[in-house]
Amino acid sequence: MRPAIRAAVADDLAALVALDAVCFGREAWSSIAWVNEFERLSEDRVVLVADEGAVVGYVVLLLPPVELDVVEVLRIAVAPAERRTGIGGQLLTIALERCAGRTVLLEVAASNESAIGLYRGFGFEEISRRRGYYAGGEDAVIMRWREEA
Ligand SMILES: CC(C)(COP(=O)(O)OP(=O)(O)OC[C@H]1O[C@@H](n2cnc3c(N)ncnc32)[C@H](O)[C@@H]1OP(=O)(O)O)[C@@H](O)C(=O)NCCC(=O)NCCS
Repeated sequence: MRPAIRAAVADDLAALVALDAVCFGREAWSSIAWVNEFERLSEDRVVLVADEGAVVGYVVLLLPPVELDVVEVLRIAVAPAERRTGIGGQLLTIALERCAGRTVLLEVAASNESAIGLYRGFGFEEISRRRGYYAGGEDAVIMRWREEA
């Protein structure tokens, strides 16, 4: 069964904090950070969840008012046991539908092959790097997506 992709609601907060901790470990957002994301939902944030009865994935976008051309993917993750079944792709498809006509940027650790594989499959291209950006000295890769004309 494919999960439903829907906008996050306040009741999802605890599940998102828990799933983010599983997916990002020491790099996870605190519950306060998640509350801040939720507080911005009416302004410039979009949080979508993949719902299979439980939340099994999510994507967070920084989607500023339309006069600004650039959207940023702040986070995307899928529960480890559910990976490689298409959920990340499902989330990104719906997220990019929200970004029609705009440029989408994201930043990803150079060693994160699964995420880079996902992004490349959607047509994201590397446009720059931040050398030694992450703890441990790993590079950040900046990737860009633009809708094909
Ligand atoms: C990145 C992530 C969200 C992908 O989610 P997913 O649900 O497994 O992705 P999908 O099943 O939709 O995969 C889509 C495509 O991405 C690529 N991909 C996904 N996992 C991959 C891997 N481990 N190695 C190489 N390519 C991979 C493949 O091209 C895949 O298509 P295919 O399965 O037909 O070959 C998931 O691995 C994850 O949660 N990682 C930890 C969190 C993270 O690092 N997030 C990104 C940084 S913000």
